[in-house]
Amino acid sequence: MVTQLQTGIEPLRGHALDTPDFRPHRLLHSPQTSVNARFVNRDLPCERTANAYNCGMEDDLAKILISREQIDRRVAELGREIAAEYADNHRDLVIVPVLTGSIIFVADLIRHLPFKMHIGLMTVSRYRGATTVGGATKIVEDLNVEIEGRDVLVVDDILDTGNTLKAVSQQLRERQPASVKICTLLRKPAKAPKDLHADFVGFDVDDVFVVGYGLDFNNQYRNWPDIAVLREELYQ
Ligand code: IMP
Ligand code: MG
Repeated sequence: MVTQLQTGIEPLRGHALDTPDFRPHRLLHSPQTSVNARFVNRDLPCERTANAYNCGMEDDLAKILISREQIDRRVAELGREIAAEYADNHRDLVIVPVLTGSIIFVADLIRHLPFKMHIGLMTVSRYRGATTVGGATKIVEDLNVEIEGRDVLVVDDILDTGNTLKAVSQQLRERQPASVKICTLLRKPAKAPKDLHADFVGFDVDDVFVVGYGLDFNNQYRNWPDIAVLREELYQ
């Protein structure tokens, strides 16, 4: 079952907790405090550039959309769904994470799979830093594993327009695998094309630009442990 999330962006700026004393912890007013605290260090020399801070990722985030606890729970469920799907025939399963965005997701996901599997790496590039839509999907690094006659599970961070996953799965099908299925952590149903079926979906999200848990903006923020909405003014 896909979990539907509503966004309703509520900027943290101006929030009751947004006081100078509280500010370093303003994303931390949840049970996650002790874990998050290590990411926030007031003593770091943060230089403010035109659009963003050079450090202190939290200043660039509008809100946490999906917490690390929610992610953990859902990734474990996805692992169980995938394990059930391949229960009877998993010996040849090749997991193909679409790099780079899926690295953290796939690392967590495969540890919930209770059988032997292979990983085939493939790097795809589509977004040039910001949220620019359009342009062809570019296979930067081709698959490094033979997949003919084998089950393939493509794992991606987010299904937005679907162009990336369409291009990747089409490329993979040309190599005559036994099957190609798709697992994506996030899906934006507003844009996802009807003719692309994702077999496993972590969360459906509104059409906002998100970072963290592997997802990037300008190749940054991948290491933020939750999935967060990036402040709009940073990319508009
Ligand atoms: P699509 O080809 O439009 O489906 O885009 C998929 C790729 O674009 C994903 O694998 C991400 O790398 C990137 N992308 C799309 N939406 C977002 C977002 O909200 N945050 C970060 N990356 C995104
Ligand atoms: Mg990607």
